[in-house]
Amino acid sequence: MNSTDRPAPPHPLFSLKNQVALVTGASRGLGFEMARALANHGAQVWLGGRDLDALQAAAECIQEHCRVHGGSVHPLPVDLTDPGLSSAALETLLKQSGRLDILINNAGQRRREPLEQLPSAALRELLETNLIAAWHLCREAARPMRAQGSGCIINITSIAGPIARAGDAAYTTSKGALDAMTRALAAELGPDGIRVNAIAPGFFSTEANANMVSDPQIQSWLDKRTSLGRWGQPHEVAGAAVFLASGAATYITGQTLTIDGGFLSHF
Ligand SMILES: NC(=O)c1ccc[n+]([C@@H]2O[C@H](COP(=O)([O-])OP(=O)(O)OC[C@H]3O[C@@H](n4cnc5c(N)ncnc54)[C@H](OP(=O)(O)O)[C@@H]3O)[C@@H](O)[C@H]2O)c1
Repeated sequence: MNSTDRPAPPHPLFSLKNQVALVTGASRGLGFEMARALANHGAQVWLGGRDLDALQAAAECIQEHCRVHGGSVHPLPVDLTDPGLSSAALETLLKQSGRLDILINNAGQRRREPLEQLPSAALRELLETNLIAAWHLCREAARPMRAQGSGCIINITSIAGPIARAGDAAYTTSKGALDAMTRALAAELGPDGIRVNAIAPGFFSTEANANMVSDPQIQSWLDKRTSLGRWGQPHEVAGAAVFLASGAATYITGQTLTIDGGFLSHF
C-alpha cells in the first residue's frame, strides 16, 4: 500500500476509535459501505449477514486500510429473522468485544408487487426482515448500551416511508413502521443515553437495483426527478452513518436523515 492509498486520518470529532459496531446486511451494498467507513474511522466493526463467504470477502476488502486508524472487521454470520440466532450472534459479539456502541439495522428485502399479489403471509415475511429483526436487535442491544450509559442505533429506512408509489405497498409499510419505531425508541431509550436515528436513502445503485439501473427509461426519469440528476452511489450513505455515530451528533436523536439527491424536496 503506498501513502496515497491510505484513508486520511479522521477529524477527532468523527473518530470512532475504541467503539464497537454491528452493521447488519454488511456483505454488500449500503451496509458494506457504512461498515467500511466506520472501520476506517477506527471502529471495531462486526459484519452481519447470512452468507459467511460473502462476509469474509467483504471483511478482507475492508481490513487492510482500516487497520491504519485502529479499525478492524469481523464476520458475524446470522439469519436475523430467527430471534434465537440473532440473540446468539449478539452474545458472541459481546463475549469477544465486551461492549456494543453502534448498531446499524441495515439488512432489508424488497417485494415490488401489487396488493392483489401479496397475501398477508408475504407482508409478514417482509416485516420479519425489515422490521421485526431490527426490533429484536434494538431490544437486545439496549441491554449492554444501558449498562454502558451510552449507545447509538441507526435504522436504515427509505424515502418509501414518508412517500409511496403503486405496486410497492409491503416495502413501504415496513419502512414507514421502521421510521415510527425510530422515533418511539428514541423517546424510550434517550434517558439511558441511547440515541436512535434513521437514515432514509433514496435511489442508490446497488446490486438490489441492478435491473432499474440498467433501464434507460428509469435512468431518464430519475435524472429529471432528482435535483442532482443521478443515482446515489453506495458510498454516499457512509458519511451520514459516521456522523450520526460520532461525537459530532451527541445531541441528535429521533431524527431521520434523508439522503436522496433531492428526490423528496424536488417539485
Ligand atoms: N439501494 C437503495 O436504493 C435503497 C433505498 C432505500 C433504502 N434502502 C435500504 O437500505 C438497506 C440496504 O440496501 P441494499 O440495496 O444495499 O440491499 P442489498 O444489496 O439487497 O443488501 C441487503 C443485505 O442484507 C442482508 N440480509 C438480507 N436478509 C437478511 C437476513 N434475514 N439476515 C441477515 N442478513 C440479511 C444481505 O445479505 P445476505 O443475503 O447474504 O444475508 C445483504 O448483505 C435495505 O434495508 C434497503 O431497504 C436501499
